[in-house]
Amino acid sequence: MPWAESLLFLLLLFSLPIPFSHSWSFDYPSPIANINSLWTNNNATIPYSATYPDGSTIRAILVRQNPTWYSPFFACGFICTAPCNDFLFAIFSVSVGDPSNPAFNTSSMPQIMWTANRSRPVKDNASLQFKDGNLILRDFDGSLVWSTNTSDSRVVGLNLAETGNMVLFDAMGKTVWESFEHPTDTLLLGQSLRQGKRLTSDSLATNWTQGQFYLTVLDNGLYAFIEADPPQLYYQRRFNITDAIVQPNMNISSDGAKNYTTYISFLKGSLSAFVSFNNTDINLFDISLPSPSSAQFMSLENDGHLRVYRWDGTSWKPQADVLHVDLDDCAYPTVCGDYGICSEGQCSCPSRNSGDEDQFFRQLDNRQPNMGCSLAIPLSCDLTQYQQLLPLPNVMYFNLGQNWTTDEYSCKEACLKACSCKAAFFKYNNVSNGSCYLMPKLFSLMNYQPEVVGYNLSAYIKVQMLPPPPRSKQLNPLVYHVGAPIIVAVICIIILIIRRIMKRKMDDDDPFKGLAGMPTRFSYKQLREATNNFSKKLGQGGFGPVYEGKLGNVKIAVKCLRDIGHGKEEFMAEVITIGSIHHINLVRLIGYCSDKFHRLLVYEHMTNGSLDKWIFRKNPRGTLSWATRYKIILDIAKGLAYLHEECRQKIAHLDIKPGNILLDDKFNAKISDFGLAKLIDRDESHVMTKIRGTRGYLAPEWLSSTITEKADIYSFGVVVLEIVSGRKNLDNNQPEASNNLINLLQEKIKVGQVLDILDNQNEEIQLHGEEIIEVIKLAVWCLQRDCSKRPAMSQVVKVLEGKIDTETSAGYDAASKDDINFDASSPLSPAPVSAR
Ligand SMILES: *[C@@H]1O[C@H](CO)[C@@H](O)[C@H](O)[C@H]1NC(C)=O
Ligand SMILES: *[C@@H]1O[C@H](CO)[C@@H](O)[C@H](O)[C@H]1NC(C)=O
Ligand SMILES: *[C@@H]1O[C@H](CO)[C@@H](O)[C@H](O)[C@H]1NC(C)=O
Ligand SMILES: *[C@@H]1O[C@H](CO)[C@@H](O)[C@H](O)[C@H]1NC(C)=O
Ligand SMILES: *[C@@H]1O[C@H](CO)[C@@H](O)[C@H](O)[C@H]1NC(C)=O
Ligand SMILES: *[C@@H]1O[C@H](CO)[C@@H](O)[C@H](O)[C@H]1NC(C)=O
Ligand SMILES: *[C@@H]1O[C@H](CO)[C@@H](O)[C@H](O)[C@H]1NC(C)=O
Ligand SMILES: *[C@@H]1O[C@H](CO)[C@@H](O)[C@H](O)[C@H]1NC(C)=O
Ligand SMILES: *[C@@H]1O[C@H](CO)[C@@H](O)[C@H](O)[C@H]1NC(C)=O
Ligand SMILES: *[C@@H]1O[C@H](CO)[C@@H](O)[C@H](O)[C@H]1NC(C)=O
Ligand SMILES: *[C@@H]1O[C@H](CO)[C@@H](O)[C@H](O)[C@H]1NC(C)=O
Ligand SMILES: *[C@@H]1O[C@H](CO)[C@@H](O)[C@H](O)[C@H]1NC(C)=O
Repeated sequence: MPWAESLLFLLLLFSLPIPFSHSWSFDYPSPIANINSLWTNNNATIPYSATYPDGSTIRAILVRQNPTWYSPFFACGFICTAPCNDFLFAIFSVSVGDPSNPAFNTSSMPQIMWTANRSRPVKDNASLQFKDGNLILRDFDGSLVWSTNTSDSRVVGLNLAETGNMVLFDAMGKTVWESFEHPTDTLLLGQSLRQGKRLTSDSLATNWTQGQFYLTVLDNGLYAFIEADPPQLYYQRRFNITDAIVQPNMNISSDGAKNYTTYISFLKGSLSAFVSFNNTDINLFDISLPSPSSAQFMSLENDGHLRVYRWDGTSWKPQADVLHVDLDDCAYPTVCGDYGICSEGQCSCPSRNSGDEDQFFRQLDNRQPNMGCSLAIPLSCDLTQYQQLLPLPNVMYFNLGQNWTTDEYSCKEACLKACSCKAAFFKYNNVSNGSCYLMPKLFSLMNYQPEVVGYNLSAYIKVQMLPPPPRSKQLNPLVYHVGAPIIVAVICIIILIIRRIMKRKMDDDDPFKGLAGMPTRFSYKQLREATNNFSKKLGQGGFGPVYEGKLGNVKIAVKCLRDIGHGKEEFMAEVITIGSIHHINLVRLIGYCSDKFHRLLVYEHMTNGSLDKWIFRKNPRGTLSWATRYKIILDIAKGLAYLHEECRQKIAHLDIKPGNILLDDKFNAKISDFGLAKLIDRDESHVMTKIRGTRGYLAPEWLSSTITEKADIYSFGVVVLEIVSGRKNLDNNQPEASNNLINLLQEKIKVGQVLDILDNQNEEIQLHGEEIIEVIKLAVWCLQRDCSKRPAMSQVVKVLEGKIDTETSAGYDAASKDDINFDASSPLSPAPVSAR
């Protein structure tokens, strides 16, 4: 077909870059490719490659030079981000040097504008084939990853246009397929999003797989959703179609009015909505944007924002937030994570009374409140009868989708009945009626002022409680004990029944009874069943064995206390005291059992078990990073600071050691067994006749003087050293000269080789030398023989948070004067010491 070839030649001429004064000496690949081309993803086949300082690599197949060298070039080809295991076939922008030094300038990163199939990355030696009118991407093993699906004999070439559009064209130069019609998360200047198409965010800035946000154009508006079942709407801008079509005085039949399509276009200075009707495009509205002084792109990002970026000569800089006109920052679904409440950009967890140390929700990450919150007890469809709705004042939701008219009571009932309902919102229309909204999935909530928005919304979040103790079992023995006189018995029974009914009634009136911090009372039988007859032992604590159990879907840990031969009432009183102490870094006491023979405590289950399993042995599930270790040290410090300084009664733990530090699924550390020493010694005349605690963690004053919470601070110092060094303080497996870690540290401090105590296997620890030295100094501060010189736990927390410095001189002086050593291996004289 000679005519086709000459046409193609003409076309090539026209699509060449506009000539400019400088000429490029670097040989960039052509922006156009002919049919029957094959590229393999390796350096040999694609010579135009560059590796960026972080290891990301591009292999460019087509490059479209830009007439102005200070604008980025567009290229299509393979791209990977460090560590470069996976490539995508993509269109991306690349920065180039000035004409005197033309080459890819790797000091600014490439920016991906379009990807072929981001949910399916490919490897080295993947292939891109342009054949039979089709552009086909296959992985190295030949598996089909993506195709334009254009088996069209008319296709003669592939062109990467100056706009960033990749086009398959025919001999007439007409477009057969274009990347602009298949947007991913980005719109380039001049690009449109047509009715039914979506922009879908990436899941993470570093991960290209499809994320949860999408922006779409429907026949009646522009909408943004977050993926859920069903998807939840967080932005909408309706089209006023009829109005637009009628205005140009068209004669529309009722059918004709429905025959239109809509789209939005990213134009210079605006994001504009259009309707195409009877071959005419009519503008519906414009969202004005900053005018481009250079290149721009618009991207739906993984926080749900639609942002415009501009090229500032060296990199892309955010320039505008498109939906911002209509959307407050707090109205984005993930601004404060799931269940988080956004108030003027600040995130918090739901609670009944503001400032309450809350027992229903906890922050996923104390240092990042915007990560959101989780329910303290996860919702379980098996225990719907123990679910309640927690009312939240002045809270509303970004999307109130489907609703129906009813009264507030029925609305709440409907939510309690539906297992899928996570929250209910009710908006009054008049005194008795209103709209009821049930939410199967709850993203971020937002605070509002009823006076400002002009309406009142009742918000209820569903929370889970554990089964209450059986009431009948407590009543029966009482009834039996009443004895012979039947009449008395009958009267008693009647009274009891009446009281029970009254009590039930009162219980019903207060939906949070049993939740306000009070641990639940269980029967022994209940706990035996929950633990499957105490079959799965989790560990052996200082006070007795611990078993795994399950209440409904909720995992628990049940501790069987031994050596408690007294005071059921006192035991309960004490348990309630312990049970009412709530802190994110203390393991929560959920309930207890106390009968004639048994004393059991029910704790929340901690997925990752105790700390010793992670620091002393090579855990098959991996070692902890330094960042995690640091966080664990801080968590322990916060928990202890709370026990020592923030509780109504000061609580000394007296057995701080890695075995008593538990880790949840996110490696948040929590102290367990607090208050037990006190509990157990309550009746022993307030004097400890034997040393409690664990060898290796005992403070020197155990031998001589009064025991205070300062003993915990010493033990904390030991634990910190163990976390840092990855070995036990007293370790008989070590050579004798180094089997006492504190002695060893002391030696190393004297010779200035502190980091010698570290577990050398761990490279990451070697990388954070300075921070580690600071933490060791902190430990030394805590390990001083004179307990009055040890810091308070609140000071320790401040040091770890970087708010104050360690009194380093104090610590190191002490070390050099042999003041930190306590030879725990020396015989312990059983001198009675006071416990208070
Ligand atoms: C491919 O080329 C890039 C840049 O030229 C280089 O950094 C990389 O090491 C090469 N890869 C291989 C496998 O040769
Ligand atoms: C690459 O870009 C940086 C700015 O991003 C600039 O400082 C540098 O001079 C450029 N290098 C070349 C070779 O043009
Ligand atoms: C890619 O293919 C070349 C040539 O067939 C081969 O030498 C090379 O080992 C392959 N690379 C990978 C990573 O498979
Ligand atoms: C992307 O890859 C996945 C997995 O191979 C496949 O299911 C999907 O159809 C592909 N998408 C496109 C647009 O080719
Ligand atoms: C091509 O067709 C396949 C199979 O029908 C489909 O999965 C894929 O999404 C299509 N690709 C594009 C780019 O439309
Ligand atoms: C990207 O995210 C997906 C889904 O969240 C995950 O399966 C995948 O492993 C992630 N990929 C990388 C490289 O992190
Ligand atoms: C449509 O636009 C007209 C005027 O432009 C306006 O009067 C009307 O209220 C609009 N309708 C809607 C539903 O916004
Ligand atoms: C509009 O269409 C109706 C019938 O569909 C016709 O009667 C009327 O004359 C038309 N008006 C104009 C202005 O064309
Ligand atoms: C709708 O438009 C299409 C093409 O624009 C046309 O072929 C079709 O007849 C129209 N349908 C109606 C009901 O007007
Ligand atoms: C469509 O436009 C043509 C002229 O462009 C006009 O004659 C025709 O009446 C229009 N049809 C409708 C349904 O508006
Ligand atoms: C309530 O739902 C109806 C349709 O079910 C809808 O038209 C209305 O806009 C909704 N109300 C609100 C405030 O979302
Ligand atoms: C409240 O509004 C509903 C309709 O929305 C109506 O049926 C009902 O009678 C109203 N009640 C009062 C007390 O006005």
